[in-house]
Amino acid sequence: MKTINTLLSFCLIIFLSFGCSNNQNQENKNDNMYEQKIDALIAKMTIEEKVGQMNLYNGFWDATGPVPEEGNAKTKYDHLRKGWVGAMLNVKGVKKTRELQKIAVEETRLGIPLLFGFDVIHGFKTLSPIPIAESASWDLEAIKNSARVAATEASAAGITWTFAPMIDISRDPRWGRVMEGGGEDTYLGSKIAEARVIGFQGDHLSDVNTIAACAKHFAAYGFSEAGKEYNTVDISNNTLYNTVLPPFKAAEEAGVRTFMNAFNDLNGIPASTNEFLQRDILKGKWDFNGFVVSDWASINEAIFWGQAKDKKEAAYLASKAGSDMDMEGYVYINELVNLVNERKVKEAIIDDAVRRILRVKFELGLFDNPYKYCDEAREKAIIGQKSNYDAVLDMAKKSVVLLKNDTQLLPLAKSGKRIALIGPLADDDNSPLGSWRLASDDHSAVSVYEGMKAYNGNKLKYEKGVDLYIGKTAFVNEVNINTTNKKGIKEAVRAAKNADVVVMVLGEHGFQSGEGRSRTNLDLPGLQQELLEAVYKVNPNIVLVLNAGRPLTINWAKENIPTIVMGWQLGTQTGNAIAQVLYGDYNPSGKLPMTFPRNVGQIPIYYNYKNTGRGSNRKNNVFWSHYSDVENTPLYPFGYGLSYTSFEYKNLKLDKSVYTANETVKVSVDLKNTGNYDGKEVVQLYIRDKVGSITRPIKELKGFELVELKKGETKTITLKLTKSELGFYTNHGKFIVEPGDFEVFVGGDSTADLKTSFELK
Ligand code: NOJ
Repeated sequence: MKTINTLLSFCLIIFLSFGCSNNQNQENKNDNMYEQKIDALIAKMTIEEKVGQMNLYNGFWDATGPVPEEGNAKTKYDHLRKGWVGAMLNVKGVKKTRELQKIAVEETRLGIPLLFGFDVIHGFKTLSPIPIAESASWDLEAIKNSARVAATEASAAGITWTFAPMIDISRDPRWGRVMEGGGEDTYLGSKIAEARVIGFQGDHLSDVNTIAACAKHFAAYGFSEAGKEYNTVDISNNTLYNTVLPPFKAAEEAGVRTFMNAFNDLNGIPASTNEFLQRDILKGKWDFNGFVVSDWASINEAIFWGQAKDKKEAAYLASKAGSDMDMEGYVYINELVNLVNERKVKEAIIDDAVRRILRVKFELGLFDNPYKYCDEAREKAIIGQKSNYDAVLDMAKKSVVLLKNDTQLLPLAKSGKRIALIGPLADDDNSPLGSWRLASDDHSAVSVYEGMKAYNGNKLKYEKGVDLYIGKTAFVNEVNINTTNKKGIKEAVRAAKNADVVVMVLGEHGFQSGEGRSRTNLDLPGLQQELLEAVYKVNPNIVLVLNAGRPLTINWAKENIPTIVMGWQLGTQTGNAIAQVLYGDYNPSGKLPMTFPRNVGQIPIYYNYKNTGRGSNRKNNVFWSHYSDVENTPLYPFGYGLSYTSFEYKNLKLDKSVYTANETVKVSVDLKNTGNYDGKEVVQLYIRDKVGSITRPIKELKGFELVELKKGETKTITLKLTKSELGFYTNHGKFIVEPGDFEVFVGGDSTADLKTSFELK
């Protein structure tokens, strides 16, 4: 007895120190409480019912992909009643989710509840900034909280499962979906992936305000060749293991319950039929026990890729490869039963997929109460409640990046000034919602104009100048719809002449980035550059507020405009957030999660490049790795962002100079607020592994901390490096730590040059 007690208290200590964290995954993995129930249920299921669980149908209203021929409501209702549907997507609101859940629970033989999936990408109805903007905050608590708020709203609307976070690392701003991710860096991307997963899933998936998260798109979608959407991917093992996969592994370790595969191929195998990715890595090496959903009809696409000759072969390949659920593709529901009956697909494969899907349904508590997410009173109380608006405003302010403030035009005086507010996005209440806004009302954002009007101590004159984008919806292929009408430029110039300060809001419309919106030109679209230059001629005191879902090539602006603010698309509260930053009620601290190129020819451009054999121009001749027609630096580097105050880094120190692989390297630095405002700074730690058996990047982010300092205050910041930061993956996917010399850099962006070094024995 005594031994048992001692053992129990030992376990408790272990649990208190390591458990209880937020790691639902460990909880789920060690938790066998559902397994017997799942076995019992599977034993009762016909093969048709099993395959039904693997079938995900789009709802009857919005489509977020090309609608297939089979996609009619009659078939769907018919299949629902037969128990041939495991989940639905794009069903909005409790009334509808309840109606469908009722069919699943009350009209089918076994009454297995449905999952309701939805693209809760940056909020449900109340929208946060687009994900790349949130990532610019480098504020993991805020990002986690933003996902928490989104999950609370979505779950109140009947949603049990989000298709987020997108954690595709990308180095190519031509790709429209960079707006949906964490940027270019694998370390930052991993931390953000973890924060978002925990935010969506909360402490316990069975809580009514949590939803299952989905790590997507597995894998390498962000490396679509030339930034062209849905394109082939051709990357090395080195990039796959060290850059692409770590954020997915981080999501898995944080307990993400589902993964989505992708539209791209990798080594010639489409992601949906890719056994190496799904079986060997995800379900094998990483021991993931949730389920994998295909992307929208992506299993069928194996046919168009030329890998499968027909739907039957596509279903065979995808099920064998580990895709557990078919999203709106009709291939599993139409082909899998026959494949099993013909003994081409083993029933064990089907059972495994079904077990994974049922497991998530059990964890969500749907078997205890299938209507727990269908509570009209809760829906009414939670959706659009004030605290949601406050939360997205907070996140929006944290996402703003100050790129330039040379003449201290910012912060603006709150009174006594004549301000001209100019630009097609200045009074736009739609574009700030971005392109993922399925559950929010069009035109529901606060525009910058509205936000600035709330500060009414100044004379504010608004002129649109030019039109930007006159397309209407997120889903229609409307390329480059820009007006040629220049009439408004004159009015804008007149307003600028009569102003002390000009605030210009220019950039991309929310529908110009996102899925299916790759671009080859990253200059200001349409007539905006002409407008900017015309205004500059009469009044150079310009604060340029850029709205965009990606880095833009704003060379002329950087050269000429004294003040530039990266304002992304900040969601519902955009105008209030921008106004608070411009008027100094909030001191910006965002840092770029993605490099800004000087021109499209530099892409892919990223901070952690390889030195190459000819990385510097030692002999001042032509024989080195460079472009000869442009400076070889980016326009703005990764990690860059200013504040209204200034910071000084000093006394970079390590606690030792030689370490063994099991020791922790403690890096300390003194950070002083040397300016006139209280402010926040993201202290960034980079390393360079000087010599490796595989070529190593010139710098790698391996730690950061968001630090708040009063003016004049100094703090000593300590960051730590352990094995996991010092090692890397071999080309066979093995994580190793090699002895040798390391350099350490600390500073406010990726060009940090305050440097020290150590040796790893
Ligand atoms: C296709 C997108 O690639 C994916 O990210 C999204 O979740 C699905 N459509 C569902 O809307």
